[in-house]
Amino acid sequence: ANPPLVVVGSANADIYVEIDRLPREGETISAKTGQTLAGGKGANQAACGSKLAYPTYFVGQVREDAHGKLISEALEKGGVNLDHLNTVASVPTGHAVVILQSDGQNSIIIVGGANMSCWPETLSDLDLEVVRNAGIVLLQREIPDSVNIQVAKAARNAGVPVILDAGGIDAALPGDLLSYVDILSPNETELGRLTGMPTDTFEQITVAKCHKMGVKQVLVKLGGQGSALFIEGQEPMRQPIISAPKVIDTTGAGDTFTAAFAVALVEGKSKKEGLKFAAAAASLCVQVKGAISSMPDRKSVLDLLLSLIKTSGERYI
Ligand code: RIB
Repeated sequence: ANPPLVVVGSANADIYVEIDRLPREGETISAKTGQTLAGGKGANQAACGSKLAYPTYFVGQVREDAHGKLISEALEKGGVNLDHLNTVASVPTGHAVVILQSDGQNSIIIVGGANMSCWPETLSDLDLEVVRNAGIVLLQREIPDSVNIQVAKAARNAGVPVILDAGGIDAALPGDLLSYVDILSPNETELGRLTGMPTDTFEQITVAKCHKMGVKQVLVKLGGQGSALFIEGQEPMRQPIISAPKVIDTTGAGDTFTAAFAVALVEGKSKKEGLKFAAAAASLCVQVKGAISSMPDRKSVLDLLLSLIKTSGERYI
């Protein structure tokens, strides 16, 4: 059997407010609509892996409250293995306020809740066993660094590759964590934070500092400018976006990209193929509202890639 994709990370209830413009300081404005949907970077990446028909486990923490129920139902429906979704009694499920503007762009504020209420001792031997038996482990930064370090170390010792999505808490990345990471994946803003360099254009991007911090491979998500994989000592591999007819909501697009790339790698595809597969998945994700609700299935991704072959002669497999 294929070794599963194992995602260790956060689960949030995404509280959406749709607005035409951000309120000024001291101003009250009325949202066009509001809705609560399942999300959280960890849960999103797990949902994506499973939607792409790859066996996927989610290791995370929620409370048995309405938000926790919303998330576990969405993940269950998506076919994610939830044997390692733990519950806490005293802290509410994590949530996020997603401010969605009419052009599909978003700003997000997270409230850690149950996601942050865990420590290395919280993970059981069985949770870590799943990590050691994974094909790839995916981490993000919405749970304590100490837990990410513990998981990344267990994966490394078992020879399992680790991809760390740099999205989440805005705090310096501990060197310990980076030393166990095989691929670091920031978006352009996060890369700016990590390197202290401007990252507005591809030309400005330099990942030298990440390489110096010990991460040999850096996968940068550049929004409208696509993505690029920087492997130390090699020319960067660039992948333009696959443009979407209409961008409805970019929430979860980065998670879709990271998880789809991981699925392609664990299935034995090349990095170049992985980048294209991920770009197609992200292009479909932005066309639907919500994070978990917008993850495309494998057929839709392959159909999109097939249509590109027909129009441009480009190949995926
Ligand atoms: O990456 C998107 C996610 O970030 C949202 O689903 C929100 O919950 C935050 O974790």
